[in-house]
Amino acid sequence: MESNHTAIKTGLMRTHHCGELRASDIGKDVIVAGWVNKSRDLGGLHFMDLRDKFGVTQLGFEQFKGDLSILKKCSLESVVLAKGKVGARPDSAKNTKMDTGEVEVQVESLELLSQSDINTIPFLPYGSVEATEDLRLKYRYLDLRTQRLQEILKLRSRVTTKVRNILANEEFIEVETPILYKSTPEGARDYIVPSRVHPGEVYALPQSPQTLKQLLMIGGTDKYFQICRCFRDEDLRADRQPEFSQIDIEVSFATPVYIKKLVEKIISGLFDLPSDFVMRTMSYDEAIRDWGSDKPDVRFGLKHYDVTDLFADSEFSVFKTVADAKGLIKTFFVPTENATFSRKDTDGFTDIVKPHGGKGVAFLKTDAEGGIKKFVSDELKAKLKERCEVTGEGTFLFFADPNADVSHSCADALRRHLGKKLGLIKDGYEFLWVYDFPLLEWDGELNRFFAKHHPFTSPKTDKFDTFLKGDTEELKALSAEAYDVVCNGYELGGGSIRIFRKDIQDKMFEVLGFSAEDAKKQFGFFVEALKYGVPPHGGLAFGLDRIVMMLAKTESIRDVIAFPKTTAASDLMAQAPSVPSIDQLKELHMEFTKK
Ligand code: AMO
Repeated sequence: MESNHTAIKTGLMRTHHCGELRASDIGKDVIVAGWVNKSRDLGGLHFMDLRDKFGVTQLGFEQFKGDLSILKKCSLESVVLAKGKVGARPDSAKNTKMDTGEVEVQVESLELLSQSDINTIPFLPYGSVEATEDLRLKYRYLDLRTQRLQEILKLRSRVTTKVRNILANEEFIEVETPILYKSTPEGARDYIVPSRVHPGEVYALPQSPQTLKQLLMIGGTDKYFQICRCFRDEDLRADRQPEFSQIDIEVSFATPVYIKKLVEKIISGLFDLPSDFVMRTMSYDEAIRDWGSDKPDVRFGLKHYDVTDLFADSEFSVFKTVADAKGLIKTFFVPTENATFSRKDTDGFTDIVKPHGGKGVAFLKTDAEGGIKKFVSDELKAKLKERCEVTGEGTFLFFADPNADVSHSCADALRRHLGKKLGLIKDGYEFLWVYDFPLLEWDGELNRFFAKHHPFTSPKTDKFDTFLKGDTEELKALSAEAYDVVCNGYELGGGSIRIFRKDIQDKMFEVLGFSAEDAKKQFGFFVEALKYGVPPHGGLAFGLDRIVMMLAKTESIRDVIAFPKTTAASDLMAQAPSVPSIDQLKELHMEFTKK
């Protein structure tokens, strides 16, 4: 299609973008195009700042040959195209803060390509944008014009390009797997899509391509990766979206050592670390014991200590009861140089632990009254100090509950809160390879096991026989060949070595409470494949969005996704989800019951 502008060899309407012109371009004839960022009339001298994702260029109108009244129509955020010559700005008008600050385009002709309705525009996308997040999401295309979001989109694209290059170098191939598929259990609810062609039947959108990538290994693909979309209907948080992207990886004949080395290559490439970067490792048990979390932020201290035994004979009945009930009493110590806590502070701690099942946080100041001091003898205090490797003065904070998981979570929550509040967190990235996760989780209320990772994760090779025996108490104690990649308190990725023996996979479904019939219905195709020659294999998936969050230093996953959903899983711009038409429902053989 020919237009006025295709005289330019590149086929673009402009010769330069808005961040490009420099003093060395002075005298050149140029065409620039972009959004009107600012417009000024200094007593008959007209200036306009033109903006695009690359920068801002000043336009001057002293040489303008047309009717200056056009400037009135060029409202903020309109798109215009200007032809002219690059000129030097007078010294007094040079702007050293702008890349293009030494020059301006002396405009000879100006075309208004698309006028913006300044009366209704909900916000202006530069400077400090004044709009609520909901408004920004509703007009996402305006928010995307901000430099910040454009930088993040660029960063995200750089990450995927780098990942593809790193994995191609290691002889991985990228394979796409279906979106309309069957349930893949990753612990969330499925999004389902009704089928028009098969009345009463549905596809499930994949929570991850887990079975498919394993089938690729069985299919001889050897090293697979995919930057893929996953769909999970689960409670959303600052780092969770209902649809998100994974860098999904699977390798035949892999051991965890191979996967860890591969992860180190990817991380060092993405985070600009030395090529011999080696990740710190920590067993799951150690992570829980010392930090109360399987994804600890190890950029700061406040390490936890188990002090249950020290309170077993104490006069403090609340703790004694917990100790007698074989619960857990944990503490961490905050030195006086980091903080001294007021009554208001210590009362406020209850709000932090409540969402985690805690009832409160007891405290003991080594050099002041209050808290549980009257129940703690000098001898016990000395023992506490010794246990927690404490030398100076400060405050012990205690987390006690008959359910050890509650003590861990509460101590973790307050540790993270104080790390932030007291400014203890160092800059930079601290990566952790957390390994030896439990294979199964026992739900005492439901009296059944759940897979800690997913049902395809292998028990440790030397425990296959124990697993097949299926004794509940022994199963509770089994570790999996599973690992997570953690950075600054976020789970960046997770994976495992997979079950490749049919008898073990069958047993796993049985242990997880699937009837033989259900297992066959849901996973029959997969289990059958295990009959025909399976290479041992393993892999992992990184959360791509979370990697970009880390690199962009943002705490909201919505910042790193071009068109994200709210925490209520809605798209405010397109108003999705929406009510289907009666015709659509009919075609799909569906009927909705009203709310
Ligand atoms: P997992 O369920 O641990 O493993 O997911 C892998 C990584 O994906 C990211 N992630 C998410 N990111 C944003 N929003 C979400 N809702 C969300 N859920 C998960 C996390 C997580 O570490 N099939 C296995 C991988 C394997 O075993 O190879 C799986 O999906 O960063």
